[in-house]
Amino acid sequence: MRIDVVSIFPAYLDALQLSLAGKAQSSGLLQIATHDLREFTRDKHRSVDDTPYGGGAGMVMKAEPWGQALDALTSDEAVVVVPTPSGTPFTQRVAERLSTEQHLVFACGRYEGIDQRVIDEAGTRWRVEEISLGDFVLNGGEVAALAIIEAVVRLIPGFMGNPESLVEESHGTDGLLEYPVYTKPASWRGRDVPEVLLSGHHAAIAAWRREQALERTRQRRPELLD
Ligand code: ADE
Repeated sequence: MRIDVVSIFPAYLDALQLSLAGKAQSSGLLQIATHDLREFTRDKHRSVDDTPYGGGAGMVMKAEPWGQALDALTSDEAVVVVPTPSGTPFTQRVAERLSTEQHLVFACGRYEGIDQRVIDEAGTRWRVEEISLGDFVLNGGEVAALAIIEAVVRLIPGFMGNPESLVEESHGTDGLLEYPVYTKPASWRGRDVPEVLLSGHHAAIAAWRREQALERTRQRRPELLD
C-alpha cells in the first residue's frame, strides 16, 4: 500500500516512522510520504487560506494549492481521504475496507475546512471519503489521519506479527467490546486474577470471556447490542 499525506504541518506525521508502521515501511509492505501543502502554492506568500465567502469566523483553505497537490499525488486507483468532523463516522469496518486499497491520499485540512469545490471536483475523478473520527472537534485533520492510518495499516496482511490478536479485539466481527485481560502475577495488591482463567478449561474460559464482553458492552456501549 502507498499512503500520501498532505498537510501544512507535515511534522505531525513524523510519528508514522515509529513502531509498526515504520517496520512495515522497511519491509516494503507500505510506503508513506508526507507533503507540505505550501509546496503546491504559486504565489509569493505561499498562502493556503482566505476569508470565507458569506462571512463568519475563521479561515477557509484555498482551492488552488489543494487542486495542485491532489493533481500531483493522486493516482487513478487512489482513494482520497478527507478527515473532517462533518464526515461519516470512522469504524473498524471502514478501516478493513481501506486496508484493501492500493493507494490512499489524505488531505488534512486546518481552520474551518477546505473549499468544498476541491472535494466536489476530486469526487468526479477519484473515490473520495470524508471521514470523522468522532463527535468532537480537533484543530485539523492531522491527528485524525494518524489514527486512521494506524487502524488501517495494522490490518494489511503480513503487517501484524500475530494475526490472531486481530481476531478477538474490540469491534471485531462479533461487534462486542473486548473482555478484560490479566497477566502474571496471579495476585497483586490483594486482587486475584479470576479463577477460571487459571483453570486451563478452554470452554469455560471462552464462555467467561464472552459473558464479560457482553456485560461490558451492555454497560458502556448498549447501542452496539441493538
Ligand atoms: N478534523 C477536525 N476534527 C475532526 C474529527 N473529529 N474527525 C476527523 N477530522 C477532524
